[in-house]
Parts: sequence; structure tokens; C-alpha cells
Amino acid sequence: MSTLDEIRGCFVRDGFAYFDLAAYLPDVQEAAGNLGRIPEGAWSHIIRNREGEFELPHDRLSEIARHQRMAEEDLKEGRFSFSFERLNDTIANAGVYEFHLMKRLLGSTAMANVLLNVTARRPTRIVQFYISRFGKGHFISTHRDPGQSFGVAVNLTRGWDPNHGGLTVILDGECHTARACLVPTAFQMLVFDTSKRSTPHLVSMVSVSPPQARMAAIARYDAVPAE
Ligand SMILES: [Fe+2]
Repeated sequence: MSTLDEIRGCFVRDGFAYFDLAAYLPDVQEAAGNLGRIPEGAWSHIIRNREGEFELPHDRLSEIARHQRMAEEDLKEGRFSFSFERLNDTIANAGVYEFHLMKRLLGSTAMANVLLNVTARRPTRIVQFYISRFGKGHFISTHRDPGQSFGVAVNLTRGWDPNHGGLTVILDGECHTARACLVPTAFQMLVFDTSKRSTPHLVSMVSVSPPQARMAAIARYDAVPAE
């Protein structure tokens, strides 16, 4: 049995699996190499709180601070909330080379073959794609990702210190115990089923200003069963 067979066994049994994508798709290392060069103006800040969901340009500092405060209150009181930055799939970002390099890689035939092996489903298209960036105070509280077939999160950060937070915690159905806790590790890919079942998960708050932001490529796929 190959390692990919074992990973597929986990995905089928648990509804999620994680492994080193670079072992199967080495190009991800080069595609991630220049993300630090992306101009700050391309990043937006996405915040969800009790007032709604807001995607704000990175320089709207007072609005960001106000929504961040509310998101933190919601986090404390157990309401679904999040706050992080992302490079979204917008026309304005069409010229950001590093973004499209990563999107093209995640939509490539080589990637489709990896995903086919892991999920036993053939991806037909990327429904949503963005690159997330977490700095101090950023988090996503417990949620389940609905719709599509499956989603992936490819970590793009090297040398993350788990003491800084930013951990991905996958919970049981009752959200009482952790089924897995993932420290951001370069090119580790989490694949999670969003069709048959949805697994509750969260990203814990980044508690200090990290030397490097925690970045990940996020993609959701439509897929058909492998024949
Ligand atoms: Fe999620």
C-alpha cells in the first residue's frame, strides 16, 4: 500500500487528511517562494462579527480596528467570528503574478491527480481560491465549511513557532475534543470533506506579532466520483 493509499484511507474514514504536498507536487515550493514580494495594497482584511462580514482594504485602519474589537467580543461570547487578511481572487489582483502561479498550480493536472488519489473523487473545478495571511490577533472560530465536494488548505509558512498560536484544531462532532491539532508546517496540505459530512474546525488566535505571517493557500473544489 502506498502512502497516498494510506492518506486516502484517513480521508475516507475521518473526513479529513493531511500530508506533505511537496512530496507529490514539488512545484509548490517554488510557487510559494515569492509571496513576500506581493504588494501590501493587494491584501484585504476580512472580518466577520455580529454585524456581518466585511472585506476591507488594508489601509482602512480605524474600521478594521472597530470590527476587530467586535470580532474578539464575539469570540469571547461563543459567536462565530473571524479576522484575517487575504489575497482574494479579484480582477484587481489579476496582475499579482505570485497569486496566479499558486492558483494555476492548485488547478493543474498534477494537483488533480494528487486529489484524485487522496479523495477518490476527480476535481472538476476550483470554486473558490484565496491566499490567507494571519498576523497578531487573527483567528477563525469554530465552524463547518458547507458545500462543494472538498476543500484544501496548503500551508505556505516555514518555521512557524506553535507558541505563537495560529493552530488548526479539528474537533469532534460535539466540538468537545480535538481530533487533530495542526501546527503550520511548510507545504502541509489539509484536505477536508465538505460534502458528505462537515467537520468542525478552528484556527486559534495568533497571540504575538510573528516574525513571518502565517500564510496558506485555500481552495474549494467541485468534484465527481472517480470511476
Ligand atoms: Fe474552514
